[in-house]
Amino acid sequence: MRTKVAIIGAGPAGLLLGQLLHKAGIDNVILERQTPEYVLGRIRAGVLEKTAVDLLDLAGVSERAHQEGLVHEGIELMFDGARHRIDLQELTGGKHVTVYGQTEVTRDLMDARNNAGLSTIYEAEGVQLEGIDTNAPQVRYRQNGVEQTLQCDFIAGCDGFHGVSRKSIPADVLRTYERVYPFGWLGMLADVPPVSDELIYAHTPRGFVLCSMRSETRSRYYLQVPLTDKVEDWSDEAFWDELRLRLGADVCKTLVTGPSLEKSIAPLRSFVAEPMRHGRLFLAGDAAHIVPPTGAKGLNLAASDVGFLYEAMTDHYLERSDRGIENYSQRCLERVWSAERFSWWFTTLTHKFPDTGEFGLKMQAAELNYLIKSRSASSALAENYVGLPMRMEDLLAARA
Ligand code: APR
Ligand code: PHB
Repeated sequence: MRTKVAIIGAGPAGLLLGQLLHKAGIDNVILERQTPEYVLGRIRAGVLEKTAVDLLDLAGVSERAHQEGLVHEGIELMFDGARHRIDLQELTGGKHVTVYGQTEVTRDLMDARNNAGLSTIYEAEGVQLEGIDTNAPQVRYRQNGVEQTLQCDFIAGCDGFHGVSRKSIPADVLRTYERVYPFGWLGMLADVPPVSDELIYAHTPRGFVLCSMRSETRSRYYLQVPLTDKVEDWSDEAFWDELRLRLGADVCKTLVTGPSLEKSIAPLRSFVAEPMRHGRLFLAGDAAHIVPPTGAKGLNLAASDVGFLYEAMTDHYLERSDRGIENYSQRCLERVWSAERFSWWFTTLTHKFPDTGEFGLKMQAAELNYLIKSRSASSALAENYVGLPMRMEDLLAARA
């Protein structure tokens, strides 16, 4: 089998790239290790920057995100038991974010790919990349136990943190940077109305809390927990009890509890791999970088990588220029490191660290107070939260 772009991984990065390339008439095949049901079963973050929504628009898959997504013009910070609103809209000259779950984005992209009759090979086993530093790369894999080869011009490694693509870059070329945090997030999804209209990021003496949502009737809550905790240790009752203790009686006046639809624990990590291109292999999304979820930058970064890769591929096939290919890694990494910095900072500010100590707590309190009192400081939070510009706006406007 032959295609122009072989895409490894049918997460949001791989599926979005596939759809954008298809719209531009660039033939592609996706190879995914899991089943579609497994991919859709993973609950991830749910806040989209405008750039991500623009890319969904460009890919022709944004109808439901516009209809069902919730426009959020502010977020709340809570500390010392008091809530403070950060007016994203006012501080950024009119920008907002859209609350729409990653699972729904993935579902919309899968539906669009099916409707367009495009090729996705699920349950592809033993994927191996070959010849990435030649002009004729190929991907070997097994389907139903039978060895297959996919020949291509380029490979897009969209196979997440545990995929094979990053590992295919020679060790003497790849440089990685990592920080692992000494706690995790216990997430719970429940069909209950959210405790508040906007997201609440709460710094409390018992640890961090995030109150988020998927719709007006579905809530997503997170508790900072020790890495040693297991999800089985947390009954629904224990989760709600701890949430109440952390949020306090005042906030909980509007808290509605109910049975969980899903509970899971995720570790927190900052990770970047450089470069993001080696020969004809491009890394995009979690394959190249991980951010801690505070600020919800993971999916948005995956989308902006895909935007740059789409631009590189259209430059190559439609404009006969390799400028986008040559600049890909550098353009992505500039934005990646900005989002890494923001996610690391927001995590450090709002979480309880084992070694914070009395002095550290005072520093967190002083910075949180500064953040709400200084317009410059809250503007810095707001402009990062809604998403830094991508320098693709012209391209999107021209090709829309
Ligand atoms: N072969 C084929 N597919 C693979 C392989 C492999 N060896 N390894 C992993 N995959 C698949 C996974 O099963 C998964 O479906 O690649 C896909 C990667 O998807 P994601 O992990 O969702 O990564 P990405 O598409 O980059 O999306 C980034 O996900 O983790 C969040 O915060 C992150 O929201 C961001 C988004
Ligand atoms: C979520 O709704 O899952 C979510 C929202 C905001 C974050 C992280 C996760 O910062």
